[in-house]
Amino acid sequence: KKIVVLMGGPSSEAEISRLTGTAILNALQEKGYNVVGMEFVPKTLVEDIKESGCDIVFNAVHGKYGEDGRIAAVLEMIDMPYTSCSVLSSAITMDKVASKHLFRSTGISTPNCLIYRKTDTDRNLVEEIAGKFSMPVVVKAASQGSSIGVEIVEKKEDLQKAIDACFEYDDAILVEEFIKGRELSIPVYGNKEKKALPIIEITTNSGRYDYKSKYTKGESFHIIPAPLSEELTAKIQKLCIDACTVADCRGVVRVDVMLSEENIPYVLEINSVPGMTQTSLVPDAANHVGISFGELCEMILQMAIE
Ligand code: DAL
Ligand code: MG
Repeated sequence: KKIVVLMGGPSSEAEISRLTGTAILNALQEKGYNVVGMEFVPKTLVEDIKESGCDIVFNAVHGKYGEDGRIAAVLEMIDMPYTSCSVLSSAITMDKVASKHLFRSTGISTPNCLIYRKTDTDRNLVEEIAGKFSMPVVVKAASQGSSIGVEIVEKKEDLQKAIDACFEYDDAILVEEFIKGRELSIPVYGNKEKKALPIIEITTNSGRYDYKSKYTKGESFHIIPAPLSEELTAKIQKLCIDACTVADCRGVVRVDVMLSEENIPYVLEINSVPGMTQTSLVPDAANHVGISFGELCEMILQMAIE
């Protein structure tokens, strides 16, 4: 079978996607697969895929199109098997507003938030937010990744600027209460029967797990497994599996969680095409339980066709 690893494209995370895609391409080549890499061009996707003569698409496109269900929709229309979640599941997990509604209505613990659309901007949002939450708060564009369009705001005076900055990315934004505590991330895999890999705790030199510290070697550290009690570990893993179940995920996804100082876990989001770069989380957690990068790629392929 011939595999195409699709990567890049026009999203704000294209560079990261090319790192993810190239790592996957190399690993599958090393394992002897018939595999080629392909730069994602939305307009010519169908022709490019058909021309390649491939049997399956390994979706390594982060963010817009790759994680929001649009590539999945196109591939379904031409009957082409692909890795990553279904159209609906991708669309929901990529949109922080839609996932917030889903998590809230299904009892998945998630930070409180206010949701705004551009049509709300004629009101005094700063006063509304300050009346509801104490500072700091986190302002997020609805559908970005890699911490792009995310602002942690310490002072009320800085809120308006953050709101405007996030509306540059999307028509909808969230303002979340800031959960002070530990930053965790949990890979979850499986189609029907889901399992969690070890919990990763993230620490950084700068104190912020932002774009720079995510992708610069030596700027962020993964502690695997996160030093937590067995009971709390199991509770957090179950919460993440539940989140992926209600979002109907498949394959390998990654759930980002904040653990408060009171040891309450809050789901922030699910990443349906998690990063697979040198500094990425999922390969590291897999490695900890003896799954090599190449084996992880094979697992993802297998789950796409089962
Ligand atoms: N959005 C990046 C690629 C991640 O979650 O790993
Ligand atoms: Mg994300």
